[in-house]
Amino acid sequence: MKIGILGAGNVGVALGAALSKVGHTVRYGMRTPSKRPEDGLTFADAVGFAELVVVALPYGAVEEVLAPLELEGALLIDATNPLGWNEGVPVLAPPKEGSAGEQIAALTGARVVKGFNTFGAEHCAGGTIEGRPIDVHLASDDGEALEVVSDLCDELGLRPIPVGPLYRARATEQLAILWIQLAIVEGRGRKLVFSLVEEN
Ligand SMILES: NC(=O)c1ccc[n+]([C@@H]2O[C@H](COP(=O)([O-])OP(=O)(O)OC[C@H]3O[C@@H](n4cnc5c(N)ncnc54)[C@H](OP(=O)(O)O)[C@@H]3O)[C@@H](O)[C@H]2O)c1
Repeated sequence: MKIGILGAGNVGVALGAALSKVGHTVRYGMRTPSKRPEDGLTFADAVGFAELVVVALPYGAVEEVLAPLELEGALLIDATNPLGWNEGVPVLAPPKEGSAGEQIAALTGARVVKGFNTFGAEHCAGGTIEGRPIDVHLASDDGEALEVVSDLCDELGLRPIPVGPLYRARATEQLAILWIQLAIVEGRGRKLVFSLVEEN
């Protein structure tokens, strides 16, 4: 699949490398594409190239970057977290539509799947912690888009956990804020993951 990742930072590059490794073709949308001459494009060219778009930008850049792009009907993963800080404590910076995922859907008309936002970027490459796979919480209103992204998670060796409609991004974005508090602020470490365990 041709995948255009908007943002070549921690998440963009970790996810892009993992997706390339399992055979997908990845290009990065960037404000300075010359920083990655081999695979960097403008944001518009990355969207034009892509069958699947991933938003891996700081929340504060989302509106400015996405508003001019042609994303109506596009398959899109939103990995952003609307992060703010209050006296050293991470807090949700209230997004316009209840969650960044819903805001991006309203802004672009894309088929948004919220995901890859509730664990540290380094886990994009899969693996296990204490024998458990890493859960990718996925929220979407689009069943077909959810299926495509769930299949990608399987390919990456991650465990897709559908959590319901896109409005549940409100919950997973809060979960990410909690992750930042526990993993970073309280120093429990970036390997920390939220793992769903069900009784059989
Ligand atoms: N880091 C994590 O472990 C993690 C995990 C889950 C979710 N997230 C979320 O994923 C998103 C990306 O996080 P990250 O850690 O990958 O961020 P990052 O390393 O800071 O990378 C952000 C990327 O966005 C670009 N960018 C920043 N401001 C921009 C602007 N105003 N206009 C255009 N491009 C801009 C940067 O480009 P330049 O190189 O040009 O500055 C960079 O490529 C965030 O919303 C974050 O909350 C992060």
